[in-house]
Amino acid sequence: MKKNIVILTGAGISAESGLKTFRDNNGLWENHRVEDVATPEAFARNPELVHRFYNLRRLQLNEVEPNAAHKALAELEKAWQGDFLLVSQNVDDLHKRAGSKKLLNMHGQLRSIWCTSCDAKMNWENELTQTNECPRCRVKGDLRPDIVWFGEMPYYMDEIYEALNFCDYFVAIGTSGNVYPAAGFVQMCPQAHKIEINKDASLVSSYFDEQWIGPASEQVPTWARKILNS
Ligand code: APR
Repeated sequence: MKKNIVILTGAGISAESGLKTFRDNNGLWENHRVEDVATPEAFARNPELVHRFYNLRRLQLNEVEPNAAHKALAELEKAWQGDFLLVSQNVDDLHKRAGSKKLLNMHGQLRSIWCTSCDAKMNWENELTQTNECPRCRVKGDLRPDIVWFGEMPYYMDEIYEALNFCDYFVAIGTSGNVYPAAGFVQMCPQAHKIEINKDASLVSSYFDEQWIGPASEQVPTWARKILNS
């Protein structure tokens, strides 16, 4: 019988590609205060500082590649017979570049910008500053990173809750369980078999039925082979 699967990923899946996680040693939130760079208030107070933080991360995408874990999820999607949904909290584009198709970036994307004047969202691969004008409406200074900041509503929530209601497997990979609503997904699919793949136990580990402990680049391909053969 066809089975439905929802996979949630966090910063841990991109760590071995060379992108910093948020809460590990030397993580992004050790060197930056969330209140200074990742809230709408921070952007209103000091947009250039916020742009600098995201510009560095956007440009860093030129230097990194998807790793074996991203690739294994793209392969799994191709081979999977039932419904498949990959929900990522990550704002990098490594799942997309690995070939994932049914992918929702619930916290936005580094390579997307949003004009708060005309509401358009556009691809953007370079630096963004307050001096840039919107390519669509030509208003200057109203472009922001298309990132869901603390205090803002994540994207695609209706679609995600719908998929959680009907999934047979829920798999969380490389996420620490600190940030809601994503950390609460595991409690929203009581019907599903729930699997956690992480370097360490997360804050919500006790809600999972099965744990795979270790680096994502090793654990995810092994787990994906196993579930395809089951
Ligand atoms: N393989 C597997 N897991 C790993 C690896 C690895 N190589 N390296 C780190 N991890 C695990 C860590 O043990 C940790 O549990 O990945 C998790 C990363 O946790 P966080 O840094 O908290 O990242 P994440 O859960 O994605 O954060 C959620 O917080 O600040 C916000 O919006 C930001 O989307 C982000 C959200």
